[in-house]
Amino acid sequence: MVTHRHEIVIVGAGIAGLAAALEAAMAGRDVAVVSKVFPTRSHSVAAQGGTAAALGNMEPDRWEWHFYDTVKGSDFLGDQNAQALFCQEAIDTAYFLEHIGVPFSRTEDGRILQRYFGGHYSDFGQGPPVRRACLAADRIGHVMLHTLFGQCLRYKVHFYSEFLVTRLLMHEDGCAGVLAWELVKGEFHLFQAKLTLLATGGYARLFQVSTNAAINTGDGMGMVLEAGLPLEDMEFVQFHPTGLYPWGFLISEGVRGEGGHLLNADGERFMQRYAPAKMELAPRDVVSRAIQSEINAGRGIDGKPYVYLDITHLSEEVIKEKLPQIREMAIKFAGIDPKKAPIPVAPSAHYSMGGIPVNVDCEVLADGKKEVVPGLFAAGECACVSIHGANRLGTNSTMECAVFGRRAGKRMAKLAEKTRFLPLPEVQVKMGQEEIKALFERGPKVKVGEVREKLQESMTQNCGILRGKSQLKRQLDILQDLKSAYKNIGLKGLPVAYNLALQEALELKHMLNLAEAIVRGALARTESRGAHYRTDFPKRDDKNWLKHTLVFMQEEQYRLDYKPAVITSFQPEERRF
Ligand code: FUM
Repeated sequence: MVTHRHEIVIVGAGIAGLAAALEAAMAGRDVAVVSKVFPTRSHSVAAQGGTAAALGNMEPDRWEWHFYDTVKGSDFLGDQNAQALFCQEAIDTAYFLEHIGVPFSRTEDGRILQRYFGGHYSDFGQGPPVRRACLAADRIGHVMLHTLFGQCLRYKVHFYSEFLVTRLLMHEDGCAGVLAWELVKGEFHLFQAKLTLLATGGYARLFQVSTNAAINTGDGMGMVLEAGLPLEDMEFVQFHPTGLYPWGFLISEGVRGEGGHLLNADGERFMQRYAPAKMELAPRDVVSRAIQSEINAGRGIDGKPYVYLDITHLSEEVIKEKLPQIREMAIKFAGIDPKKAPIPVAPSAHYSMGGIPVNVDCEVLADGKKEVVPGLFAAGECACVSIHGANRLGTNSTMECAVFGRRAGKRMAKLAEKTRFLPLPEVQVKMGQEEIKALFERGPKVKVGEVREKLQESMTQNCGILRGKSQLKRQLDILQDLKSAYKNIGLKGLPVAYNLALQEALELKHMLNLAEAIVRGALARTESRGAHYRTDFPKRDDKNWLKHTLVFMQEEQYRLDYKPAVITSFQPEERRF
């Protein structure tokens, strides 16, 4: 077993992980990033349309308007202390990104170019849409990730790529580090750290059709649950309105921001019926439900489960300059030139609003409320701070990763000096080793892929955009069966080096545990709010449910707890768009 020692160990090399690594390394700390893929293959690279900051480069804008939109977008479940801080720091962070070299698109006079996105309006939601998404054509994630990676190399961050972290090593005084499996060689590595940050992204691969990379299996959240720590608001799963049909690849909301229209089989701009004032620029939960309702009413194109996203009325120049990647994807995958024909789209699992409960300095909360776990941090999609509440606004995620990644990096840099290394807990190391040994000793009665596919299909069917009590109960039964089947997965006779079945088996364990956390939260929440829509409880219920769900798992038993949402400035009101 190889042992490494770094003051700060960051698990995950997306925007949140690298922003944290850069801040801590710039402060002179010894930082390592451990990632299951090469850093620039992290899923952040897929972000397209832009990153939110009220710069006001196109028309007047204010962070307070961004704050209001984020609160209303979250269906009033987000914590307003965190939302206000986020919207203020987004501005400084956009300039920080510019200064470290992110190649934003530019206005005529050289400022960062911004575009429209769903849910972002002026004048506390009363005025017209405002261009708030800072863009780099349709490749914001690519440019942010590559720039941050370059800067991390410059500041001598240590990278361990293609290492799958399998377990948090928890000492009674806090987190002591992590256990990892080097995929290429098939070897264990111990990472001892004073401070550990989880920045492992989301779990949207739990669903059959997803905008996410295959790596997005929720490992960080799964490890936290396994360590007996809570997860927050797991029932809030975002479905992006426009995944390329039938694969689900992301077709950016930036397409609607540039003026794209959604059309049903009758050629009707159906958003007129669901959000007459904001139309295609209503928040995502509203647009996804509208598309699903059109499909369910038989108005999908040719009776199939998709609608059209039409940009044939945009100029060739706008499409090529501002949406080049979308154009290329439509041509290469669907065989459609979007200047000549509309793009087939349908909702696609995209983002997890919930995650590991943290405070605004990204410290993990042991009880989900106040008590901090010493030495353990989380940032980005795997964390829940909570700025997205029940529904995230487009472009708030890349900015969340940057803002809170930086905050985590600064906080850890400050603490590193006075924090000591904790001894690595031998029992947990052994349990981690035994887990993999057992998989290699068992014969393959069940294949990983079979269980994973059943999980994805059933989650989509029973816990998707629209869910009801009987579906959710059925899903709980299915999950028990899948968990039993999981125990019969084995890898006997297979090599240890670069064994992707092993990786998938370890990921699947987390996926099954997270699925149950999502379903239990969804079943208990007898209201509809943001992305959580209960067909049997279609109304929001502030009297009983203006609160966050906390889910704990102990020896395969789940327990739910709740805490109130933080309201500082805006009282809940009816959401009309
Ligand atoms: O539509 C998009 O470009 C995605 C942005 C986001 O999820 O924030």
